[in-house]
Order: sequence, then C-alpha cells, then structure tokens
Amino acid sequence: MLERSQLAANALQALHDEDYDVPFNTQSLNHDGLIFMGGRQQTSMNGDWTFCVDLLDTGLRQKWYAMLPEAPENRTEPWDYDPYMGETVPVPSNWAMLKEKWYFFEGSAWYTRPLDLDEIDGTKRQFLRFGAASYDCKVFLNGEFLGNHYGASTPFCVELTGRLKPGRNWIMACVNNTRTRDRVPMRNTDWFNYGGLYREVSFFETSKSLIRDFFLYLVPDGTYSTLRAEVTVDGPELETARLAIPGLGVTLDIPVDETGRGKLEFSARPDLWSPETPTLYDVTVRFGEDLVTDRVGFRQIERRGTDILLNGEALFLRGISVHEDDARLGKVTTEEDLRRRFADARDLGCNYLRLAHYPHHERAAQLADELGFLLWEEIPVYWAIDFANPATYRDAENQLTELIRRDRNRASVIIWSVGNENPDTDARLTFMQGLAETCKNLDPTRLTSAACLVNHAQNRIEDRLADHIDIIGLNEYYGWYEENFEDLAAIGVNSNPDRPVVISETGADGVIGEKGPQKGLFSEEYMAEVYRKQIGTLRQLDYVKGMSPWILYDFRVERRQNIFQNGYNHKGLIAADKQTRKKAFRILSDFYHQIAASEEKAREAS
Ligand code: GCU
Repeated sequence: MLERSQLAANALQALHDEDYDVPFNTQSLNHDGLIFMGGRQQTSMNGDWTFCVDLLDTGLRQKWYAMLPEAPENRTEPWDYDPYMGETVPVPSNWAMLKEKWYFFEGSAWYTRPLDLDEIDGTKRQFLRFGAASYDCKVFLNGEFLGNHYGASTPFCVELTGRLKPGRNWIMACVNNTRTRDRVPMRNTDWFNYGGLYREVSFFETSKSLIRDFFLYLVPDGTYSTLRAEVTVDGPELETARLAIPGLGVTLDIPVDETGRGKLEFSARPDLWSPETPTLYDVTVRFGEDLVTDRVGFRQIERRGTDILLNGEALFLRGISVHEDDARLGKVTTEEDLRRRFADARDLGCNYLRLAHYPHHERAAQLADELGFLLWEEIPVYWAIDFANPATYRDAENQLTELIRRDRNRASVIIWSVGNENPDTDARLTFMQGLAETCKNLDPTRLTSAACLVNHAQNRIEDRLADHIDIIGLNEYYGWYEENFEDLAAIGVNSNPDRPVVISETGADGVIGEKGPQKGLFSEEYMAEVYRKQIGTLRQLDYVKGMSPWILYDFRVERRQNIFQNGYNHKGLIAADKQTRKKAFRILSDFYHQIAASEEKAREAS
C-alpha cells in the first residue's frame, strides 16, 4: 500500500504518465492457469461489489488499488474514489443493464469486495475463478496486481496461495470493455458490447496436488469400444491418477509422467450418446487428495465426403443460432433462460444449436448434454480482425484453448468454429488455419468449421479456408441482403464442395406488433416469405447437411437504429420478450418436424 510521500509523487505521475496501463497488460491469466472444476467445492463471490465506472482510467493512474481502507474523516490526502465504500452493483451483471447513464458506457470499471478468511490452511492452495469478464480483467489482491485476462467469454483462474492473510482480504477487478483494433472481436460487431463481471465468481481451495485438466473420450476409430483418458496434474510427485466410471465397471490407474501428464486407453462399450439417447456416465478422477467428477457421454462425430455422421449414421443438423442476450439481464445467463432456450428449440424441431459468436455460459453445453442437443461453439474471430498482429493471434488462440479445455468433455459439442464472415485474405488464412490446427491438436474427436461467405462474384461457395476445416459454414441472406433469390439455387449448381456444408446463417428481419410495418422489408410477412423460399431452395441441395437460421430471439445491438429496429436486430423467430413467436417460427418448425419424422421412419425401417 502507498505511503504518504508516495501518494504525492503518484498524484503528479498520474497526470503525465500515458503508459500507466502497460504494466497491467501481461495477459498472464490465461489457459495455462485453468483448473478442471468438475465436482469442486466453491465459495460464491457473487453478490454486491462496490463499483465505479472509470472513463479516464483514473484508477490505474492514481493507483486506487493501492489505497488502504480508511474512514473518510481519517484520510489525509484528497481522493477521487474510495473502492471500499459507496455504490454497489450485483455480480454477475452487465453495467449497461443497471443504469441508463451506463447503457453505452465503454471503458474501465472497478469492482471491489472483501474476502474474509478465519485462517489460511497452509496445506492447501487457494484460487479465484471468474466464469468470464468482458473484456480485459485486471485482478488485484490486497493492493497487489496478480495479472490480467483478455477475452470476454471464457473462464480464468487466479492463484492466491501465499498471498492471503487471516481476516479481511480485498479483491479488486478492473474490467475494461473498450473496443480496440487488437482485440477479438475487434471494434465492429452486430451484437451489444456488454461489459463487466457477468458470470459467476468463486473462491476455492485444493490440496497441494491438483488435477488441472481432464479429458475423457471415445476413440473415434469406428469401433466404439475404446476410451481414452488424459490428465494434467500439478504438485508433488505421485505416480498415478485413479479413474473410475462405475457405470462401465471401470477403475483404472492412469500413469503420470514427470511433466504431470498422464494418458491411458482402455476397452469399454458404453451406450452411445445421441440427441435421442443422451446417455451420460458419472466419472471420478483422484490424484492424491484431489478429486474431481464429471458426467460424460460417449459418441463419435465424423464427416465422410459431404456427409456428417453421428455414431456411424448420417445426420441432418436441424438447428437455430442463438446469442447470449436478454432484454432485462443483458448477457447474464440463468438456468431458467437456458432451459427456455432449449424448450423453444425443441418446439422448433431442432436437434442442434449454433452458439454464436463467442463461448456461451458453460451451463449451456452441460444442459445440452442432458437434454440431447448438438452444439456448434465458436470464438469471436468476427468480421474484421487484426489478422497480421501476433498479439491478436495469441489472444484468439488463448480464447479457443480456454473454450476447448472448458467444454471438451461435453458430448453435445460436435463443432469448434474458428470464426465468422472474415475476408479471404492471406493473413486471415494463416490466422484461422492456425486456429483450426489448434483445435485438432487439443481435440481429435470433433469437427472444425467457420462461417464463410459466398463468393458473390463467382456466385459459388469458394473460400480458401474451406480446405482447412471439416465443415463449411455458409452465411447466406438471399431474399434479405441479397435480393436475387435465384442466385441461391445457382450457387447450389455452381458449387461442388468436397465436404459437408451447413447453412450457419440465413433469415430476415420481421418486426411484429404495431411497431412493425404491415408489408415489405421488416414486416413479419416478408420474413415468413423469405423462410418459405429459403427452405424450398435449400432442401434441394444434397450437400447441405444442416442449417442454423439467424436467429432464435431478437437481440440488442447498438448499430441497428432505424424506425423499426430501435437498437435491436429483429431476425429472431421469437421476439425479444422470448414469448412472442413470429410466423416464420411455424414455417421452420414444420420443415424440421417433417425431416425428423422421415428420419424416424428410416430408423424404424432399418
Ligand atoms: C451476419 C452476422 C451476424 C449478424 C447477421 C445480421 O451474418 O454473422 O452476426 O447479426 O448477419 O446481419 O443480422
């Protein structure tokens, strides 16, 4: 903490030092620090945190994090903010949803709360875990900077071991959601730039020996009879980790090498997971005193030519895209909201959802495992990105690695997407090809994809990235952004893809109620007509093996400001109240239920 003399010097420096933030951008809180969380006991740090928006980064300049808690009357120096008192906000939340004046606020904001510990157990390690923080999150403990995390949608852990004291400790987080050239996404997105601590924060302890990572999967060799377990452990030398899968009668020791890595392949014949039969097995792994659990489903997803196969059977992905957005809560996710999302998808006749354009809350994939939905998960390499910037690549690869490490035990997740609608440049190709390789290195069990653009000049599917991904995601808006519908049919004829194509986006805006026009663009009827035509054309294209129209619910976005839009994208099949269904909902659900019925008949016949 700063002494009196230091405060004076600091006050001057705070006025002149324009590199004040450089020491606080180490990005040292990244995937290396992630810890496998299944079954761990956690103390919630949710609730009220003192809060202050800080447009000019005065907090870093004046070192607010180094201030001592002090009664106002006892303070000897003028101060501009006292992190230990004043206004509070609930965590998790987005500041945009809390006050009108914070709606469009972009910049830094300070969160502070105490962490009271009667005693510090020296035989244990102590950590904080953030489910996500948008975008840059600098973490301080008792005035000490512990590192920062880049990326708005993935979890990170902060080790506190050896830095805590019995009694009251203070945690501070400076969260900054400024849109900058080097970030992922960059400055321009068609979704709202929510900021803040909008997912759960928790405190947890582990033994000195801990399980950092655990990956369990069905070896994708078509025999459905071999499982592979991989563990990464930390701490004192122990020979093995003990794996148990009671439902399969499995209890085995995984030998761990000197680097803390262990892997083991063994025979087993699990009931295969599928949307129709979402079978999950309880699993435990013990390493010394550390114990983690998980519920894992086993399935094989693969592509063969232009087919997508699940457990050896051809599959059509009946999907819908969805954002993490809510008219009242912003980007905060609740169990109730997720269950409604899957219930609406079920009514739509879906077996698949595209979680766009960034990693959603980890509960989404857990629920999809239980309820039987297939998922496309994505990192926000969206539109323009500083593809030639190595720091930007590191950020993107870190977000991808954090996502994969968080969700790769989820049977529901079948596709990792490395981006959306990016220009087909050399720098982009290198960048996204690298990310696609990272997917395969971290996870040989899933398909890779990206939402690619149509080559309108050639009127065909043509993207150099297609050679480096398993599934070509195609965003096409014929009938909306592209007027000439015949072109969609022509693309079908002109294109001869050698791998499956999934229509990752299509659709049109439809504003319902008195705010919407009765006919023409933005009318509900116009939207319905686009869906009729889209379905009519797409169902003819053999190589189209799935679709996830844009989008399940209307969602908030700053860049949509015409008289019908009012700050919303209205391509939802359901309005932003998440209740009111538009005509197009029924049109798509009829199509999907037809497909499901014919697949069911085919299954019964076989
Ligand atoms: C794009 C983009 C979406 C966007 C949609 C739209 O394809 O990927 O993020 O919201 O089009 O324009 O509605």
